[in-house]
Formats: sequence, structure tokens, C-alpha cells
Amino acid sequence: MEESKFCSESLVVKTSIVFPTDTNTYGTLFGGKLMAYIDDTAAISAMRHARRGIVTASTDSVDFLYPIHEGNAVCLEAFVTYTGSSSMEVFVKVTAEDLISGERHLCALSFLTMVAIDEHGKPTKVPKVIPQTEEEKSLYESAKERAEARKKRKKETEELAKKYRSLG
Ligand SMILES: CC(C)(COP(=O)(O)OP(=O)(O)OC[C@H]1O[C@@H](n2cnc3c(N)ncnc32)[C@H](O)[C@@H]1OP(=O)(O)O)[C@@H](O)C(=O)NCCC(=O)NCCS
Repeated sequence: MEESKFCSESLVVKTSIVFPTDTNTYGTLFGGKLMAYIDDTAAISAMRHARRGIVTASTDSVDFLYPIHEGNAVCLEAFVTYTGSSSMEVFVKVTAEDLISGERHLCALSFLTMVAIDEHGKPTKVPKVIPQTEEEKSLYESAKERAEARKKRKKETEELAKKYRSLG
């Protein structure tokens, strides 16, 4: 396994057109469809970094900042910003483009945590990340704080799950 990799080595760019079958009753991209695109793009990015099988451990909140209309191009950019031992934080940026006017909007941002697994499904080590650009450095430096918040949130979810099990 390589010791460390540049963020650019895990970069994934996926662009597609929004068809009527992808939209809700308002003619804008269905949120669930966008979340599937986000997970898909992040998964490919994490696999490029780890060159291993991966699973999605968690997705931080996704705020839909701007609607993506039928006929728009939707573009997702993802790269690995930070790693722990087996986990990788992947940043995903979603922009929409009106292909006639060229107008672009930032529609969503998301952080996902992907975990590399070995042939027995157990978490396994991944290479470190070397940030280069200002954006990569800023995301790298703030990642530890987000990882701590996720740990706390997971504990709270586990407590909640215990409560629901006992009620069930
Ligand atoms: C993700 C998973 C492999 C973690 O396994 P685990 O036995 O809890 O292993 P660990 O506690 O050692 O955690 C492994 C790493 O994942 C990270 N992790 C675990 N749960 C996490 C969560 N909810 N959010 C963020 N990171 C998480 C840990 O911090 C650890 O990171 P590190 O190795 O970089 O320090 C396991 O919980 C799993 O398989 N979950 C289901 C995944 C899945 O099916 N995804 C598809 C959704 S349908």
C-alpha cells in the first residue's frame, strides 16, 4: 500500500443531464436521486484513494441549497480530504448548470465517511492524504473537528437505538 496520496488522485467528476424521470412533481431533481449520485461519486473517490472495497459509514447532513431543474446539467466533484486509520472523509460538491444560458449554481455540499474493508469485511488501513491547494488544505485542517463531531453523533445514535430496541 502507498504511504500517502494527493487529493487530486481521488478526484471524481460526474456530470449528467436531469431527465423527466429523475424529477419530482415540481420539475426539479428528486432529492433521493441526488443523494444516490452523491454516495456513488464519493464511493468511487474513496476506492480510487484506497484501491480497496469500501462501505459508507455515514453521511453528514445534505442541505439542498438551490433547485436543479429538468434539462440542467448536474455536476458532482468529489475527493478524499482526510483519513483516519481505515476511514476516509470524502467531500462532494454539487453544481447545476443551465446549459442554454450557462448560469451555474452551487446546489449542495456534503461530507461522507467511507471505510475500507478487507476480504473478511473488516476495516483495513488506507493511505494518508497530502493536501496541495488552498481548498484542500482548509478542508484537511478542519477535518479532525468534523470527525470528532461524528464520533459524538454516532454514540448518540447508538444510545437512541438501544432505547428503540428496548421499546420494540
Ligand atoms: C462502517 C463499519 C465497517 C465500521 O465497522 P466497526 O466495526 O464499527 O469498526 P470501527 O469501530 O473499528 O471503525 C472503523 C472506522 O470507521 C469509523 N466509523 C465507524 N462508524 C462511523 C460512522 N458512523 N461515521 C464515521 N466514521 C465511522 C471509525 O471512526 C473508524 O475510523 P478509523 O479506522 O479511521 O479510526 C461498520 O459499522 C459497517 O459495516 N456498517 C455498515 C456499512 C454499510 O452497510 N453501509 C452501506 C449503507 S446501506
